[in-house]
Amino acid sequence: MLRLQNIQTYYGNIQALKDVTIDIEEGEIVTLIGANGAGKTTTLMSICGITPPRKGEIAFKGSRIHQLKPESIVQLGICQVPEGRRIFPGMTVLENLDMGAFLRKDKAAIKTDLDMVFDLFPILDQRRSQLGGTLSGGEQQMLAISRALMARPRLLLLDEPSLGLAPLIIQQIFEIIKKINEESGTTIFLVEQNANQALKLAHRGYVMENGRITLVDKASVLLENDAVKKAYLGL
Ligand SMILES: Nc1ncnc2c1ncn2[C@@H]1O[C@H](COP(=O)(O)OP(=O)(O)O)[C@@H](O)[C@H]1O
Ligand SMILES: [Mg+2]
Repeated sequence: MLRLQNIQTYYGNIQALKDVTIDIEEGEIVTLIGANGAGKTTTLMSICGITPPRKGEIAFKGSRIHQLKPESIVQLGICQVPEGRRIFPGMTVLENLDMGAFLRKDKAAIKTDLDMVFDLFPILDQRRSQLGGTLSGGEQQMLAISRALMARPRLLLLDEPSLGLAPLIIQQIFEIIKKINEESGTTIFLVEQNANQALKLAHRGYVMENGRITLVDKASVLLENDAVKKAYLGL
């Protein structure tokens, strides 16, 4: 479904991604793990067209997308939940969700998706008239994910959804990510520093170090890998 082939992304003269190759099949949950500064966010930003690669190729369903504008990439069905749950704090929950659907014209289906989102996150239903900025950190992350779902993505990109949240909330959010994948068949690319939880959820995983992919395997195999255990699982 998505193929990054030898991409190289720069910030000015600084090369952040070095020959990154990643393949994601339709229906999969794939995780990208790595330390702070490894290049995980840059990988997502490269896919979304915000920091396009200087070299290499990105293809979605067989078509090259690395020269498209971010809006065009969203319209193809690739949607990102950025790091730090950037919701609109001065808008209500419902208004935030409407923003997620702003490129769509299928009114009836939007209503169905709103019901689906409230079904996944009943707490947001209770808080639909509350301002986004007054929600707890976990609720804001739920809103950020829900807003992305309102665009009806085929591929959902999640940038460290567990960052700064309490263990119980993280568990809840990861269970819902699994549910989104299983129930709507949405393909998920999950970037995480929380390697243990991410590898338990994902089908396959990539490990990134200093802008390079150093390991790729089934998530269950990576969980048993000695280098991964030592560097990322604290074992
Ligand atoms: N806007 C930017 N300008 C310059 N360098 C950046 C910028 N964003 C990230 N970097 C650098 O690129 C590298 C990868 O960063 P990033 O993709 O944010 O890593 P991660 O998400 O894995 O923590 C880091 O060395 C970081 O300092
Ligand atoms: Mg990051």
